Amino acid sequence: IVKIVTEVKELKNLINAFRLNNPKDNIGFIPTMGALHQGHVSLIDAASDLCNFVITSIFVNPTQFNDKKDLERYPRTIEADMEVLANTACDVLFLPTVAEMYPIKDAVYSIDLNGLDQVMEGKFRQGHFDGVCNIVESFFRIIAPDKAFFGIKDFQQVAIIKHMTKVRALKVDVVTCPILRDASGLAMSSRNALLSPQEKESARILNWVLKLGKLLVQEGKPLSEIKENMLALFAQGSLDLEYLEIVDNDTLQAVNSVQPNISACIVAYCGNVRLIDNIQLN
Ligand code: PAJ
Repeated sequence: IVKIVTEVKELKNLINAFRLNNPKDNIGFIPTMGALHQGHVSLIDAASDLCNFVITSIFVNPTQFNDKKDLERYPRTIEADMEVLANTACDVLFLPTVAEMYPIKDAVYSIDLNGLDQVMEGKFRQGHFDGVCNIVESFFRIIAPDKAFFGIKDFQQVAIIKHMTKVRALKVDVVTCPILRDASGLAMSSRNALLSPQEKESARILNWVLKLGKLLVQEGKPLSEIKENMLALFAQGSLDLEYLEIVDNDTLQAVNSVQPNISACIVAYCGNVRLIDNIQLN
């Protein structure tokens, strides 16, 4: 049975009581925006493997949406989410209101992300990572979890959250979890609910393009040829490319030759739905 908490104060009281009674135990935290799917569940499962007390949040964070329409049509499925959570080891669901998390409307938040926010998503989603860091920092300060769980599906988000926890000296262990895909290879995403069956079929191209990249790296091809081939395959589908970048896993800077520790990151529109995916190339 999942306990639902909507107020910061109540959540803090609950956590303080848990800490007092279980001084040696670990608290695990999984922030989400809801419309829960198996990808989210895999994070909760990882948390319950490593922690004794598991807190999940569902909060559609307005400050990270650079596009108002995207915020409006973001799927909200709290009843179904509750059912999903009931079948996991989640102990507490934190379900705050916008006013609870942002008592001062339009207050400015800023953090130096050392350029990590200037590449890829940063070029197309102005202010997105400030919004992500704002809410995740608030959650980390309220909950003070031992470990927090993030999917590598949001590759740049993971690097930025790790950086944010260092800049703010938050001492939260950021645990990264693999991408869960459906049977067709499409990375699971809350936004997939917005795709028609036909669009879902078209969206499979993303995974094929990424897998091709990995194959060509294994074959020892030069990077320019790899990227060209990936773009050519992508062009055979019907999605609109926003970017395809091959970057260093730590600096997120584009590389111009195959080297250790690189990933291919892709974003494309399928109709009006923005899809994101990536693969570790070596
Ligand atoms: P959301 O998109 O709901 O994702 C919540 C977490 O689930 C993120 O860490 C994301 O990477 C992970 N996730 C999503 N799809 C996944 C998949 N197919 N496999 C594995 N993990 C997956 O990311 C956010 O919310 C927000 O930016 C948030 C961090 C909650 C801040 O508002």
